[in-house]
Amino acid sequence: MQTALDYLNTLWGRGTTLLGTKYAILGGAMTWVSERNLVSAISNAGGFGVIACGAMTPELLENEIKATKILTQKPFGVNLITMHPDLLALIDVCVKTGVTHVVLAGGVPTKEAIESLKKGEIKVLCFAPALALAKRLIRLGIDGLIIEGNEAGGHIGPVATTVLAQEILPEIRDIPVFVAGGIGRGEAMLSYLEMGASGCQLGTRFVCATESRAHPKFKQAFIRAAARDAVASVQIDSRFPVIPVRALNNKGTERFQEYQRELIRQVDAGALPLKDAQMKVEHYWAGALRRAVIDGDVDEGSLMAGQSVGLVNAEEPTEKIIQDLINQALSIIKIRTEKEIEQGNERVIKLSLSD
Ligand SMILES: Cc1cc2nc3c(=O)[nH]c(=O)nc-3n(C[C@H](O)[C@H](O)[C@H](O)COP(=O)(O)O)c2cc1C
Repeated sequence: MQTALDYLNTLWGRGTTLLGTKYAILGGAMTWVSERNLVSAISNAGGFGVIACGAMTPELLENEIKATKILTQKPFGVNLITMHPDLLALIDVCVKTGVTHVVLAGGVPTKEAIESLKKGEIKVLCFAPALALAKRLIRLGIDGLIIEGNEAGGHIGPVATTVLAQEILPEIRDIPVFVAGGIGRGEAMLSYLEMGASGCQLGTRFVCATESRAHPKFKQAFIRAAARDAVASVQIDSRFPVIPVRALNNKGTERFQEYQRELIRQVDAGALPLKDAQMKVEHYWAGALRRAVIDGDVDEGSLMAGQSVGLVNAEEPTEKIIQDLINQALSIIKIRTEKEIEQGNERVIKLSLSD
């Protein structure tokens, strides 16, 4: 007799095997948020916590990994940003401290980075924004793929999660694929698993976890926000490239528009070289995520958040967040099974309703 949980475990079996976890739920790394406390809480609750290295030095990363290991015996990963100037030194730290999984983010990883991790017997997960790149990364030997849609919080690509999932899941069978972006409930998680995903990655949903170190004002902003408040940053002139980031609208985002307009005026008037203006646009948000997450400056800081922020209604223990996701997925499986049994579908009668 197969239970609803058995069914879920079958769906994400390749994901749980790769991660070494009970559930194939990754807590997406969030710079300044995903440190020892949240990461260990996610892993202890059966998911897979991921340390956000962000701009940390190799020494800071080493400390964070060691501190996390004290708080959990369960597997966890480290997220490294590929354009970090000390990437290879950070990889060495991961190898030296016995990290089992690394997620490479923030750009296409080099062959060298992937090979150094594989040589250190570390499982490598990468983001792929398109099918061709996914196939290339698989040829380079990566172990898992994350596809992240435009609904996500933080730096985003242009394509919605639902479309990316349809583009990539049917084509990639060689390695487990994890879906991220806009997932806030177990029903959505289940739907991607049934489309062929081996697991899911959630970020926004974990920001207001009790164990998250985000400032109480940052959490309050999340709890108050609706899905439509999490908007992508706007580029108003093609000469001034803006890296798209999804965040809650605040005074800082409004001022950013005004700032861009002012720079454009100055460049057009010949009062400012284009290169200098581009640099100013690029640097506008420097340090802004820290100001919001750590200092609680929710007016001027960057409130990176995905659209699933509309589903975050309270501060809750990580374990409850994960259990809710599981229960929501299981309840759909059970409802469906009940209906099929009512209709006399012999094939599903074996699926027990007891669990
Ligand atoms: C505040 C914040 C910071 C983030 N920082 C990072 C990061 O440093 N590295 C990274 O790969 N992704 C980062 N992300 C993306 C998450 O890891 C995750 O993929 C994303 O939040 C999933 O989409 P969701 O927000 O809809 O759940 C960040 C997201 C948020 C909300």
